[in-house]
Amino acid sequence: MIAPQATETKHWSFHTDLEKIGWLTINTPGASVNTLSREAIMELETLVARFEDLASSGELVGVVILSGKDSGFIAGADVSEFDAMSDFSVLPEALRRTHALFARIEALKVPVVAGIHGFCLGGGLELALACHYRIAVNDDKTRIGFPEVNLGIFPGFGGTGRSIRQAGPVDAMQIMLTGKMLKAGAARGLNLVDKLVRHRDMLRWEGRKAVLQKRKASEASWSKKLMALPLVREAVANQMRKQAGKKARKEHFPAPYALIDLFEKHGDDWKAMIRGEVDAFVPLMGSPTATNLRRVFFLSEGLKKQSLKGAKFSRVHVIGAGVMGGDIAAWCAYRGMSVTLQDLDMERIKPALDRAKKLFGKRFKKKREVDAAMLRLTADPKGTGVSRADVIIEAVVEKLEVKQAIFSGLENKMKPGAIMATNTSSIELERIAEALKDPARLIGLHFFNPVAQLPLVEVIRSRFNTDEEIGKGASFALAIGKSPVVVKSAPGFLVNRVLMPYMLGAVERVERGESKELLDAAAVAFGMPMGPIELMDTVGLDVGKSVATELGHSVPAESRFARLIAEGKLGRKSGEGFYKWENGKAIKGEAPAHADLAGLGRELVKPLVDMTEVVVGEGVVASPELADIGVIMGTGFAPFLGGPMKARADGRA
Ligand SMILES: NC(=O)c1ccc[n+]([C@@H]2O[C@H](COP(=O)([O-])OP(=O)(O)OC[C@H]3O[C@@H](n4cnc5c(N)ncnc54)[C@H](O)[C@@H]3O)[C@@H](O)[C@H]2O)c1
Repeated sequence: MIAPQATETKHWSFHTDLEKIGWLTINTPGASVNTLSREAIMELETLVARFEDLASSGELVGVVILSGKDSGFIAGADVSEFDAMSDFSVLPEALRRTHALFARIEALKVPVVAGIHGFCLGGGLELALACHYRIAVNDDKTRIGFPEVNLGIFPGFGGTGRSIRQAGPVDAMQIMLTGKMLKAGAARGLNLVDKLVRHRDMLRWEGRKAVLQKRKASEASWSKKLMALPLVREAVANQMRKQAGKKARKEHFPAPYALIDLFEKHGDDWKAMIRGEVDAFVPLMGSPTATNLRRVFFLSEGLKKQSLKGAKFSRVHVIGAGVMGGDIAAWCAYRGMSVTLQDLDMERIKPALDRAKKLFGKRFKKKREVDAAMLRLTADPKGTGVSRADVIIEAVVEKLEVKQAIFSGLENKMKPGAIMATNTSSIELERIAEALKDPARLIGLHFFNPVAQLPLVEVIRSRFNTDEEIGKGASFALAIGKSPVVVKSAPGFLVNRVLMPYMLGAVERVERGESKELLDAAAVAFGMPMGPIELMDTVGLDVGKSVATELGHSVPAESRFARLIAEGKLGRKSGEGFYKWENGKAIKGEAPAHADLAGLGRELVKPLVDMTEVVVGEGVVASPELADIGVIMGTGFAPFLGGPMKARADGRA
């Protein structure tokens, strides 16, 4: 009997067992997730050459690829290497080399099986697709998909052709174009995965069976493949371009369009599609859009590093069950916290509970998950949750005396070390904290409306706070899946301060007779997710006016803005503001033609960018990078420009 084989490299470990099954485990050194770096790929080349030898001498009956990390299989290529690449002319060779490696895996005479748990994304999924069979753990943590489009590129390790081969053109393109991450069951439904198991422990057993039974995934059905036939394909590609156009313009986000072009050219020949990846991929990688999106990716990853070690939160008490408090409470319960929600009486809490139920119904598939979330959220008009809460968030009316009274009443009842936070939009933290024995305890956690949709939480630091309170606040925001940006207590903080001159500037132009439709279209052409007038209607004219006044902008009583408010035309929520609203949509007239829409947009956005510079200059946020990520997350500012400060530095805003 020949002794089992074993090899350790930096990223991989490999051994064969007595049944001659090869077990290949990836474990990226010094990282919590596995990535497919250049080095990992080069090591895999050597290993695959070994597999070829062993297979041809009958010493290997198959290979099972697993991950040694709890976080998952492989989270993708190593994005940091993209930026380190000073010369993109080396890229075609690197891509072709990986293509050749994956083709050799596919051509191995013995079955290669991927055992997937947790994240299996981008390059990780491309490797899995080059295996002959895929087994995935069917739990809440498994996520399978191609997020490349969010980085301004598309799959470049053969994922385009192989996903089409497995899932068929329509579903595969949909996954690549949206960057959506699938749960294991959905990936199985699309034939990207061949077998589901319940636990990670079962991957070895099923992997062994798959090897011994020489299992091989079946390709997409003929009926699915029909959609890639020449004439149909052209129509399908056009339809996809239309869909892509609804989300983003080609000049802002070229990747989806380049992928659709590639599909239109080669969609019925998966091997040609893979070969075609190289020429289409390389120009995208070096484009300003991809460079900026990578920067945004790293900045948002950086926000996650603010979490304090060992910070744990399970009970949240929210005071004020209005628009914000109700939705903050619902969000916290949705994210697994036990939440008590206080207001003056039950009547005022009830609508918040109804909204929470709607949110849970939308976000959870199973009734039992909705019921469990509802059980985590308790109406608490007497405030009995205060003494046990790890976090208390106040979101009552914007009145200093009311907030002061609430906090001074809380101070003796709260657990030592619990977070004490206000969601105030405009009152200086120091003034609220005046009423406290220990003013350092109070921080701001400024959420944005609608809470469930907007990822940013401004963690507001008063001059009394120490790093500890702020660190806890940021950790809590992360614990509920939000992105914390620390901002000094200053009027309007970051986001409202920069938005207001932009929105008011546009309102003034409308008052002077310019077309609101034109201005909104121009801002979108620049790259904003929504124009400033539609945004004002969405925020609510009353809310907009009060923030404007707090920030020292005047809103003359005779202005159309003030008149609309006086007439109760508050925007989307009342059915009419600058626009009439139906079913949550603004009814827009035709915008007049304009020769340079994006140029006009740039002019409109200028006050926002100017104000971001002021805010950075005043030290309200710690760095231009933080201002960029904060403004992108809080306003949707054109991410492909990298944020207002980056866009200004690049001469693009
Ligand atoms: N609306 C927004 O877009 C927005 C965004 C960010 C922050 N904020 C801030 O959030 C806070 C709440 O705003 P909102 O829009 O949710 O207001 P809201 O008027 O919808 O809700 C306020 C709630 O507080 C309750 N309340 C008043 N006094 C109370 C007390 N003593 N004890 C318990 N509950 C009490 C009221 O009954 C009401 O239900 C404000 O500080 C506001 O500045 C609002």
